[in-house]
Amino acid sequence: MNAGNTNTGGDKLTVQNLVQVFNRQKVLHNVSFTVKDGEFLSILGPSGCGKTTILRILIGLLSPTSGTILKDGVDITEAPPADRNMGIVFQNYALFQNMTVLGNVEYALHFNKALKSNARSIALNIIEQVGLSEHAGKKPGKLSGGQQQRVAIARTLALNPEIILFDEPMSALDAAIRLSLRDEIKRIQKKFHSTCVYITHDQEEAFALSDRIMVLHAGTIQQLDTPENIIRNPATAFVTEFVRDTLKIKIDSLVKYING
Ligand SMILES: Nc1ncnc2c1ncn2[C@@H]1O[C@H](COP(=O)(O)OP(=O)(O)OP(=O)(O)O)[C@@H](O)[C@H]1O
Ligand SMILES: [Mg+2]
Repeated sequence: MNAGNTNTGGDKLTVQNLVQVFNRQKVLHNVSFTVKDGEFLSILGPSGCGKTTILRILIGLLSPTSGTILKDGVDITEAPPADRNMGIVFQNYALFQNMTVLGNVEYALHFNKALKSNARSIALNIIEQVGLSEHAGKKPGKLSGGQQQRVAIARTLALNPEIILFDEPMSALDAAIRLSLRDEIKRIQKKFHSTCVYITHDQEEAFALSDRIMVLHAGTIQQLDTPENIIRNPATAFVTEFVRDTLKIKIDSLVKYING
C-alpha cells in the first residue's frame, strides 16, 4: 500500500487499480485514472455502474477492497475524510433546515481550527460569491431548490477544499434551474481553480461542463477522454451507443426549438 511520495507533476489525484467488492459481487473492476490539478472531470454512466462508490472511496467514506489513491503523489487510501481536504455536494443538499443560510455555511467553519476565528466573514464572502447575500438570513425552506443547492456549494467552498466532488447535484432540479446552476458551477470552478469530479447520468451536462469525461459501465472504464474525442472516436460499442443518444437529444431539442 506504500506508494511513496512520487511526485506526479500536475496530477492532483491518481487512482490505481481500484476494486470494490460488495457481498462477493465486484462492482468496481481495476478502475485507474488521474485527475489533473484544476481539471473538471465527469463520471458518466447508467444507474448502478459504480459512480457513487468511486466518490465514496475518494472522499474516504469507504475503504476500497483493493487499490490505491494518491493526492499530489501522497498515498491517502487509508486517510480519514477530515485529512483529505476534499468537499462533497450531494443531490439532496443535506442542509440544516433549522439554521439560516449563513448558519449553514458558517457551521463547518467552527470546527476548523485555522478558519474558525474568521468564520463569519468567510461565510458572508462565499455567500456573496454564489449570489445569495440577500437570502443569508433565511432558512433553507424559504429558498428554491436551485438556491438551496447554491447554499450547499457555498458551504463546501467555505472550507477551501482542494478537490470538490459532486454526486448528481442537479438531479432533483427542473430543467431551467439546471441550466443556470450549470453555468454557476462552471463559473465558480474557474474562479476558485478547483479540481472537480462530477458525477452525472445526464450526458448533456457532462459534455457541457467537463474537460474530460469518464464513461463508466458495470464498474469498468469504457473511455476517459475529452468530450470531443468521445464523440469523434468512441472507444467501445457501449460508448458509441451512448454518444448516439446524446446526439439524438441534441437533435430533438434543436427540432423543438426550430418548430417553436
Ligand atoms: N453498501 C453497499 N452494499 C452492497 N452493495 C452496494 C453498496 N453500495 C453500492 N452497492 C451496489 O454497488 C453497485 C454500484 O452502486 P453505486 O451506488 O456506486 O452506483 P451509481 O453508479 O452511483 O448508481 P446511481 O446512478 O443509481 O446513483 C450497485 O449494484 C449497488 O447496488
Ligand atoms: Mg449514485
